[in-house]
Amino acid sequence: MSKVLIAMSFVLMFSAAPPQASAAVHGVAGGILKIPSNDSLAHCITGCGDIDFSYPFGIGPGCFRQGFDLTCNHSTKHPKLLGSSTVQITRMYSSYGIVFSPIFFNLTTSPGTNTYDMSWEAPAKGITIASDNTLFVVGCDFDVTLFEYGTGDMVGSCMSRCAGEKVPTGGPCNGRGCCLIPLTRDLPGFRAELVSTNTTATQSDWLHPGIMAIVAPQYHYRDDDGDNTNTTTLFSSWTNASNIYGAALSINIMDQPSCQSAQMNNASYACSNGSSCQNSSSGGYGCYCSSYEEGNPYILDGCMQELELDVALVP
Ligand SMILES: *[C@@H]1O[C@H](CO)[C@@H](O)[C@H](O)[C@H]1NC(C)=O
Ligand SMILES: *[C@@H]1O[C@H](CO)[C@@H](O)[C@H](O)[C@H]1NC(C)=O
Ligand SMILES: *[C@@H]1O[C@H](CO)[C@@H](O)[C@H](O)[C@H]1NC(C)=O
Ligand SMILES: *[C@@H]1O[C@H](CO)[C@@H](O)[C@H](O)[C@H]1NC(C)=O
Ligand SMILES: *[C@@H]1O[C@H](CO)[C@@H](O)[C@H](O)[C@H]1NC(C)=O
Ligand SMILES: *[C@@H]1O[C@H](CO)[C@@H](O)[C@H](O)[C@H]1NC(C)=O
Ligand SMILES: *[C@@H]1O[C@H](CO)[C@@H](O)[C@H](O)[C@H]1NC(C)=O
Ligand SMILES: *[C@@H]1O[C@H](CO)[C@@H](O)[C@H](O)[C@H]1NC(C)=O
Ligand SMILES: *[C@@H]1O[C@H](CO)[C@@H](O)[C@H](O)[C@H]1NC(C)=O
Repeated sequence: MSKVLIAMSFVLMFSAAPPQASAAVHGVAGGILKIPSNDSLAHCITGCGDIDFSYPFGIGPGCFRQGFDLTCNHSTKHPKLLGSSTVQITRMYSSYGIVFSPIFFNLTTSPGTNTYDMSWEAPAKGITIASDNTLFVVGCDFDVTLFEYGTGDMVGSCMSRCAGEKVPTGGPCNGRGCCLIPLTRDLPGFRAELVSTNTTATQSDWLHPGIMAIVAPQYHYRDDDGDNTNTTTLFSSWTNASNIYGAALSINIMDQPSCQSAQMNNASYACSNGSSCQNSSSGGYGCYCSSYEEGNPYILDGCMQELELDVALVP
């Protein structure tokens, strides 16, 4: 039995942020390494098409933290937002360092082949697939096992069986024509092995020939009650790529390996006064305002504004 390696559906490229020996104000290609004030960012572009973004992400010198540069390509009908050069960003939560980027595999099964490999690897250190993503696999008669990239540790497995019947749409993703594996932890990448258990079945489903795998936050595919999954949008993604929501990717500060070492280098420490620092599981760190109110921990007093707001709300 032959084994087929499925090519990635896209290429994701953020510029890697190499460690800086000196605490320069401007890093590689205009990336900032000190905490900017809101005023110093006043000249910066804040959107591309219908996607808004803010520091640490940005376009142009003085507008982004090293490693967080974006590109807006206006040559297409709808402007395309890209991480550094090639990857499409479909939405983002800037102050949490989160971007959404489509990760999907569109498998055309062929008779005689029953094992398929799907893999995705972060294009640069410091980029991880966030733990709240889920791998959804749509199609008939297969087993899937998901492994962490690098370590090879098993993350989970699931199976789909159709028993010769047509795939029901609109129901939960529960093993009939669809199955899912929650990631549960941040991953630097993954490898999924899919074994087709009835090659006749995947060939004979006239509605959706083949198998489709999508990585996305589970909340995007909830049903109307919000407590189960709903396969309608999943199935529509199969034929219409603009329904693919995108996987949540976490982008970490990488010019220092941890909060502790970053705090010993005041000039390049990214977390503003009033924000807290958290080590990332894949190395590097991120900054967080204390509550989930608006606030940007990467801008001077960016969390303080939130604090003032809170105080003002107290009668
Ligand atoms: C930051 O600057 C922008 C304009 O560049 C302004 O619209 C916004 O109100 C400012 N935010 C704060 C909190 O001062
Ligand atoms: C912008 O997009 C067009 C069309 O997809 C492509 O030909 C061009 O190379 C892109 N430009 C940049 C700078 O990526
Ligand atoms: C394999 O799929 C075909 C076509 O859907 C179906 O008729 C057959 O019963 C399936 N075989 C098994 C073992 O499920
Ligand atoms: C699933 O989604 C479709 C389309 O949004 C909707 O019409 C249907 O009611 C949903 N089903 C459930 C069980 O929520
Ligand atoms: C694909 O989906 C998008 C967004 O839901 C919609 O606007 C568009 O009309 C769809 N395209 C086709 C060909 O169905
Ligand atoms: C997946 O492949 C099928 C068959 O080649 C094609 O019709 C469909 O548009 C593809 N879907 C996406 C999202 O690329
Ligand atoms: C962060 O990582 C550093 C270096 O690995 C370690 O010494 C430190 O205890 C970690 N801090 C937290 C809060 O986990
Ligand atoms: C960092 O800043 C604090 C407070 O401003 C200061 O006490 C400390 O010495 C500084 N550390 C370094 C390594 O510059
Ligand atoms: C940080 O904020 C605290 C509380 O508002 C304030 O006392 C302190 O002076 C601030 N430190 C700096 C360096 O801005």
